[in-house]
Amino acid sequence: MTKTCVDPKKARKILDRYPSGDGTSLIHALQDIQAEFGYVPCEAAELLCEHLSVPISKAFSAATFYKAFSLEPKGDVVIRVCTGTACHIRGAQTLVDELCSILNVAPGKTTKDLKFTLETVNCVGACAMAPVVSLNGEYHGNVQPGTMSKKIRGGK
Ligand code: FES
Repeated sequence: MTKTCVDPKKARKILDRYPSGDGTSLIHALQDIQAEFGYVPCEAAELLCEHLSVPISKAFSAATFYKAFSLEPKGDVVIRVCTGTACHIRGAQTLVDELCSILNVAPGKTTKDLKFTLETVNCVGACAMAPVVSLNGEYHGNVQPGTMSKKIRGGK
């Protein structure tokens, strides 16, 4: 987990929703932390584990097992390129390569300025529109190579 500065008051406010010593609340509390901070900061996880009386390893296991959790801060724009079979056949890897080049990051990483996170995902259920890229959850279909730079900067 990344060690960063989080507002302990914000973390405490979340913890106050859960009875102390109740380890069964771990996942719900982690979800609240993820929603508040956009990821699970180390300090917040430590406070949570102390509050719920669970070992930090348990929070770490949950946070790494479930895809809904991130241990790293995400960018303002989360770019997800579908690399499922239909999208792969229709050029998803070219889009991934193009984005890696534009953003200078590898898949799964966030730009240093925290503006963009690039991820690859499995089929998102929109195969008819392949290849599909989502920007903060908004799907773009039939994405052509050479168009990503404009798209991620708000163009269509
Ligand atoms: S494979 Fe990409 S949407 Fe199904």
